Amino acid sequence: MKSILITGGAGFIGSHVIRRFVNKYPNYRIVNMDCLTYAGNLENLKDVERSPNYQFVKVDVCDADAVAKVFADFEIDGVIHLAAESHVDRSITNPMEFIKTNIEGTVVLLNAARNQWGDDFNGKRFYHISTDEVYGSLGDEGLFTETTAYDPRSPYSASKASSDHLVRAYFHTFKLPVVISNCSNNYGANQFPEKLIPLIINNIKSNKPLPVYGKGLNVRDWLYVEDHAAAIDTIFHNGEQGETYNVGGNNEWRNIDLVKELCRIMDKKLNRKEGESEKLITFVTDRAGHDLRYAIDITKIQNELGWEPTVKFSEGLELTVDWYLQNEEWINAIVSGEYQAYYQLQYGER
Ligand code: NAD
Ligand code: TYD
Repeated sequence: MKSILITGGAGFIGSHVIRRFVNKYPNYRIVNMDCLTYAGNLENLKDVERSPNYQFVKVDVCDADAVAKVFADFEIDGVIHLAAESHVDRSITNPMEFIKTNIEGTVVLLNAARNQWGDDFNGKRFYHISTDEVYGSLGDEGLFTETTAYDPRSPYSASKASSDHLVRAYFHTFKLPVVISNCSNNYGANQFPEKLIPLIINNIKSNKPLPVYGKGLNVRDWLYVEDHAAAIDTIFHNGEQGETYNVGGNNEWRNIDLVKELCRIMDKKLNRKEGESEKLITFVTDRAGHDLRYAIDITKIQNELGWEPTVKFSEGLELTVDWYLQNEEWINAIVSGEYQAYYQLQYGER
């Protein structure tokens, strides 16, 4: 039996990775380590929480003693590290949380893996999940490749870049068997409604203003979260030691066009007149240091590991909108709590 530690499993991407691994690999023990910040939600894992090969531990990745105990108690062979502070806007108002969790937390896990594994790396793997934002911002042309120089520009991306460097340093210095992937923007069910797509869906539903930063001309590459979970599965099992893989959707959208597309889909679903939700679009003050464009070259993972995105954006968006409309309790539990104070601070209104 393999014992796999997945950190941040109660969050958005982590919950999809946990579900995939618990269901697909009955002879792996899957240990979900999460301290349940505002972004962690065990409701995301209701359908797998009683599976015999699944175990949740409420542990902060910065707590070295508790992390070491989990490695020893569960005889961890593999790590898929997703736990992080993940929202750029929060990193602008409160950078220290990002430094602590994303940098220190990653080093605590690297040290625990080293201590547990000693010099015997047979069958061992430390997989660090990162973001394309470490590469900085593109102009109108070009794509990020695995050799693009790091140029992070927000406290979030700088903290992720720093953790990537530390993971590589442990590979070179201690021969720790690591692999890294850098992925573009994910979307899908269970994403916390501070991120663009679920925030816009929720605001359209509630007839609230749709805040578009600046002129809405920034471009993101969107990947369906289950395609990312499939890439993580592939890289965890088949990625080369010490290598980095870029993961993306080949799916670039300007924010304003994406928001209009969501309005169009929601008008249909809510039986509103065509064009009605678009009236809610409100241009607001731009994000400080807002990166213009992210776009990924996925040639390496396509050629070397045979992964590519499978879900068309039109299908993925429909699935996502349907999920949010069918899971009102999930979203209402979030937006009725601490979220209101966050929203007030970020957007100056309720
Ligand atoms: P998320 O914010 O939805 O979830 C993060 C999870 O980590 C939560 O469950 C939270 O409780 C947990 N966590 C936070 N701090 C912790 C700590 N100190 N100890 C233990 N658990 C802690 O994030 P997400 O969007 O699912 O992102 C997951 C990972 O993927 C992150 O590392 C992020 O940088 C990376 N990533 C995200 C995207 C994206 O579009 N969301 C794209 C590329 C890479
Ligand atoms: P976000 O979902 O926060 O992801 P990231 O900043 O990591 O790419 O934002 C996606 C894009 O949408 C980004 O260009 C910022 C923009 N945005 C808005 O215009 N309004 C909003 O309310 C939010 C949250 C984001």
